[in-house]
Amino acid sequence: MRNTILSVYQPSHLASLVPTMQDFIESATQNLQTSQVEGEDITFSNLSLGLATDIIGQAAFGVSFGLSRPQQSSTTTTTSNNNTDEVSDFINQHIYSTTQLKMDLSGSFSIILGLLIPILQEPFRQILKRIPYTMDWKVERTNKKLSGRLDEIVAKRMRDRDRGSKDFLSVILNARETETVSKNVFSPDYISAVTYEHLLAGSATTSFTLSSIVYLVSGHREVETKLLAEIDEFGPRDLVPTAQDLQTKFPYLDQASRLSESMRYFVVSPLIARETSKEVEIGGYTLPKGTWVWLAPGVLSKDPKNFPEPDKFKPERFDPNCEEEKRRHPYALIPFGIGPRSCIGQKFSLQEIKLTLIHLYRKYIFRHSPNMEKPLELEYGIVLNFKYGVKLGVIKRT
Ligand code: HEM
Repeated sequence: MRNTILSVYQPSHLASLVPTMQDFIESATQNLQTSQVEGEDITFSNLSLGLATDIIGQAAFGVSFGLSRPQQSSTTTTTSNNNTDEVSDFINQHIYSTTQLKMDLSGSFSIILGLLIPILQEPFRQILKRIPYTMDWKVERTNKKLSGRLDEIVAKRMRDRDRGSKDFLSVILNARETETVSKNVFSPDYISAVTYEHLLAGSATTSFTLSSIVYLVSGHREVETKLLAEIDEFGPRDLVPTAQDLQTKFPYLDQASRLSESMRYFVVSPLIARETSKEVEIGGYTLPKGTWVWLAPGVLSKDPKNFPEPDKFKPERFDPNCEEEKRRHPYALIPFGIGPRSCIGQKFSLQEIKLTLIHLYRKYIFRHSPNMEKPLELEYGIVLNFKYGVKLGVIKRT
């Protein structure tokens, strides 16, 4: 299964996605221009969520949700021609459901209870989801609608004989129809679940990372100056970098964004769970089969042994010639997880983030809005989120 999915994320396929990604990015920037009145702020985190959701929507379902397009030109771009209304409703519910998955005291009662007394979580959830207007009831209602919607999209695409092979859903459906793959493995329910997993895993994470980079760079002028110099040096403003250019020609952008300083500073998935499949010894402790083990990349990334002055934003610490970089443990920073179940979309998201930053910084610079709280408040959910959004002033570059 993972191999089938991985084919969508092969370098050659990713490279072919550059024009599609760029198209969405330009639309989102166009929105930025038209909505920009002097002195008006933008909530950058909303823009980035729309953009990331549109891009993964295209890659996962082969349809454009139209969230980052100017209103009047919101159209589908590929295989399905009349899916926009259907999926934009779906996606609004998806965004609602993503932002409701909180793990602090503002979350649903069953989630809070689960944090304190895990054994009581499920029985309480079963009761609360039947009591109207509780958070559990709202989440259950939205999730039901979402899975119903998703099942419809999958069923429709299953009937589509001319579905192509560029998006994730088509690749799995095509694999299902080959003789080598059992139809029992790729049941419609299973396909809906993995497609939704991709949408969920690929939107909030990428959007948060993009917002956190722009937020951090806007607050560090010396970093911004170096970043702008590297981007400007690449070539004329309308020259779109290839996938190869993105990997080799932007080393400073890599330090400021890639598996590095911004992702260390704000770790989007601060906790990763594993369950032991057999008895195992870790660090002198014997863990029986079935034990839950939590990895804490968010704690690792703030360990002063590997990252001196961990609360300072210093992209230079990832300079390959820097002593700190040479000394550091190779697994000190694992924002995409580690091992055979690590993030499948790592290269996809890095390509998207870099393309977006290059396009944005060729045209604009950003400043923290006085309306944004200081320090920025975070919300701990299935992924980290900005509680009140990242609010920025936009300055057009000349
Ligand atoms: C900056 C963006 C992203 C970050 C920081 C991120 C981070 C992560 C992390 C920490 C995990 C868990 C890894 C583990 O358990 O060891 C994960 C899993 C996963 N991610 Fe991402 N992710 C990002 C973007 C994406 C994108 C764009 C996609 C889809 C295109 C995606 C799809 C997945 C999937 C399907 C899994 C589950 C893999 C499995 O269980 O085998 N992610 N991601």
